[in-house]
Amino acid sequence: MPIEIFLGTGGVGKTSVAAATALKAALAGSKCLVLTIDPARRLQTALGIDSNGLEQRVPLDLLEGKGELWAALLDVRASLDRAVLRYAKPQEAKTILEHPVYQILITSLAGMQELLAIERIHQALEDGFTSIVIDTAPSRHALEFLDKPEFFTHLVSTPLVKLVGRTYKLWMASPLTLISKMSFELYSRVEEILGTALVHQILEFFSIFRKIAEGYSDRAQQTLALLRDPHTTSFTIVTTPFKAKRDGEYFLHELKRRKFYVNSLVVNRLWPAYPGTLPPGFPSPLQELVGWYQNVCDAHQRAWQEVSRQFSGDIPKLIPLPELSRDVDGLPALYNIVEEMER
Ligand SMILES: Nc1ncnc2c1ncn2[C@@H]1O[C@H](COP(=O)(O)OP(=O)(O)OP(=O)(O)O)[C@@H](O)[C@H]1O
Ligand SMILES: [Mg+2]
Repeated sequence: MPIEIFLGTGGVGKTSVAAATALKAALAGSKCLVLTIDPARRLQTALGIDSNGLEQRVPLDLLEGKGELWAALLDVRASLDRAVLRYAKPQEAKTILEHPVYQILITSLAGMQELLAIERIHQALEDGFTSIVIDTAPSRHALEFLDKPEFFTHLVSTPLVKLVGRTYKLWMASPLTLISKMSFELYSRVEEILGTALVHQILEFFSIFRKIAEGYSDRAQQTLALLRDPHTTSFTIVTTPFKAKRDGEYFLHELKRRKFYVNSLVVNRLWPAYPGTLPPGFPSPLQELVGWYQNVCDAHQRAWQEVSRQFSGDIPKLIPLPELSRDVDGLPALYNIVEEMER
């Protein structure tokens, strides 16, 4: 599928599994982009890329593959600048990019990260990537990149916001008869509260930026429709053995409620069974340690089996992944995960 999105709670292995999936797609011949929309940015260490927001090609030299692997960290400013340059007229784009309100918007508006993830996915599709893998932030924010664009779309289509955006310039040019009494009252009231200079700056900015905001909202709707199409997009829930039941239920419910399709559940970090038994005569602390380890392995296996039974009717692919002997950093470790996923 061209778009694969990985969700899960903190630290379960989303970034590792997403990066491994992207590697697998590239080795199979896709031009694949793995995009992290998580500000924490562990993708950098997993793939050894630097921190600028542009796509960077990850050399696959040691591995034989037909495709290309690219990685990018979501960069709010770069993504919004690109939308402004592409969708505003040149003079308007210059005014927007240099406007003080734009600088504030970019740096301080909470949630810009979540709003721009959808725009960035649209840009990646425009750039001709045949496979796009999305690594998301931990659960508290996990679904916000799907919810916020929808909320924004409603916001820009509300009558009051439309009225402000469309009539402000007329109001400034002033033959008051041209604009409705309602907007006249609205601007005067807002000015009383916030002071004239600030209001002029904000409204002036908004009146030019309105077209970009409306364009963003149209594209967000198109992209969300693609994310809801099971032929184009699949969602994977990543979890660990003891969290699997709770995480599986939560994300399956929340994604279904929003009409997104869950294709896979990855249960990561299952401890592999201890091979054989210790010979008699080993010091007892070691025997105890091995016994404890084996108990945890057994509990992991039971959790995995329970989860497989519970979700087999709802989620087509249930994938167990073992605990690896070292951190998942660099291509060889990611390739290990690819091999485990193919077992
Ligand atoms: N199967 C595994 N075996 C061993 N270590 C693993 C495995 N999967 C992940 N890890 C390690 O666990 C840590 C967390 O993994 P990762 O960053 O992929 O999780 P995450 O869900 O993306 O975390 P966050 O919620 O912080 O973004 C990393 O140090 C990674 O190397
Ligand atoms: Mg991560």
